[in-house]
Amino acid sequence: METNLSISYVFIMHDDSDNEYLRGFINVFREVFSGPPYFRVFEEDSRLLQRVWKPYITKGTIVLALDNEEVIGFGCGIPLLKASGGVSKFLKHFLSQAGAQFDLRTTWYMAELGVLPEYRRRGIGSELIRRRLCVAQLSGHQKYVVSTTTNGSNSAPIYLKAGAIPLPFTQSAIMSSITREAIDFTYLYGDCEVALACLSPNNS
Ligand SMILES: CC(C)(COP(=O)(O)OP(=O)(O)OC[C@H]1O[C@@H](n2cnc3c(N)ncnc32)[C@H](O)[C@@H]1OP(=O)(O)O)[C@@H](O)C(=O)NCCC(=O)NCCS
Repeated sequence: METNLSISYVFIMHDDSDNEYLRGFINVFREVFSGPPYFRVFEEDSRLLQRVWKPYITKGTIVLALDNEEVIGFGCGIPLLKASGGVSKFLKHFLSQAGAQFDLRTTWYMAELGVLPEYRRRGIGSELIRRRLCVAQLSGHQKYVVSTTTNGSNSAPIYLKAGAIPLPFTQSAIMSSITREAIDFTYLYGDCEVALACLSPNNS
């Protein structure tokens, strides 16, 4: 997939609240998830900083897509056993029932992912996935898990093309502490090496 834009990618490595990209990250995060299929209503910036930015930077990774130094997309990832929100507890319980045999200690969680609407369908989301998988593999992870909305997911087609397999159960999660609306999530899992081969830029 080709794009005429000159997009660059940067990994955020330092735990600092004054990071030059923090404001851009928060703005894009809000815009992406307040639209379909999430329609999330957000907490204050300080909570987003504590709940999203800090944990991924300190225990996992954040990769940003930039257009002229402006943040236009992001992808977060973390070792599954360090993921918050009960994800690893939920998966521990259901994976054994689903017969999916893999070691949670070497499984990576592909967390938040988003690209601004006007930049979509140009391969930026796929590249954000690919770069996070590189980090996962380099840090010794063989498998990955991702959760996405059961209906209307934009990311599921990318993961499915990269060989991911849907797990046979869904989870209901509250997307906003204000509206208390719940959305059903489906989990997909795959092999990092297989996905990297499928998403390789030489493969397009
Ligand atoms: C998911 C998301 C990051 C994808 O970003 P993107 O830059 O458009 O992704 P890509 O351009 O790499 O898309 C690659 C493929 O994904 C699929 N895809 C992407 N958007 C799609 C859509 N709206 N409908 C159907 N398929 C879609 C297509 O197969 C596409 O390939 P194609 O353009 O050759 O047909 C973006 O749509 C987004 O931010 N959505 C809202 C937030 C979200 O859903 N995040 C995922 C949480 S798990």
